[in-house]
Amino acid sequence: MKSKLIVIEGLDGSGKATQTKLLADKLTSMGRTVRKLEFPDYDSPSSSLVKMYLNGDFGKNPEDVNAYAASAFYAVDRAASYLKNWKNDCNNGSVILCDRYCTSNIIYQMSKVKNDERDGFIEWQSDFEYNKLGLPVPDAVIYLDVDLDVSQRLMEKRYGGDKSKMDLHEQNVKFLRECRESAVYATQKCGWIKIDCCENGDIKSIKKIAAEIEKVVFDILKP
Ligand SMILES: Nc1ncnc2c1ncn2[C@@H]1O[C@H](COP(=O)(O)OP(=O)(O)OP(=O)(O)O)[C@@H](O)[C@H]1O
Ligand SMILES: [Mg+2]
Repeated sequence: MKSKLIVIEGLDGSGKATQTKLLADKLTSMGRTVRKLEFPDYDSPSSSLVKMYLNGDFGKNPEDVNAYAASAFYAVDRAASYLKNWKNDCNNGSVILCDRYCTSNIIYQMSKVKNDERDGFIEWQSDFEYNKLGLPVPDAVIYLDVDLDVSQRLMEKRYGGDKSKMDLHEQNVKFLRECRESAVYATQKCGWIKIDCCENGDIKSIKKIAAEIEKVVFDILKP
């Protein structure tokens, strides 16, 4: 059986960790070998530059580190993780489930470039991470689309109302709004599969979203 790499994408607080875990459990219960990954790889020193960036060490605004430099920080963390931890899983029939991947650079960093530079950025990102660094290309990218005010509420709940725990991106609602526009653009441009996670101004139940994701994933994994 061929390994498959499936990415769960979305803005901060969109339910990626929740849904990746449920999907991993489901596929495991069906007898598939699942490798679940989360990026950035905060447990590894390879994420040091990302941590410095999100902590504001290079400036208090996301724009203080340009799209290409910040993308490189995230990309080398993924390359290190791939080489050290999951290269073999790409050839042993596993389902590799990623909570965020190279595609997060398209959401977060592409928002820093002008609209008419977006296609060029996507080409650069894809060439840099997949061709040059040698990271595997995803078989599918599932984008969890959540209204920004809804995901802000979920994040606040998670942080117990303490906004000081939020990182550079999470604190900046204007930036996140631009990131959502990038994500919508990329969904069209790059053929991501969009899951509408909201209805009537609120988030759908965890179970309902999980069922929609499963449907898509079963299709992808069909022999
Ligand atoms: N459908 C849902 N309904 C209600 N609460 C949810 C739903 N999905 C996730 N949550 C809750 O919202 C919070 C954010 O979810 P989660 O951590 O899965 O998101 P995330 O996309 O991984 O966030 P981040 O990008 O910040 O890592 C958590 O407290 C989680 O329990
Ligand atoms: Mg998460």
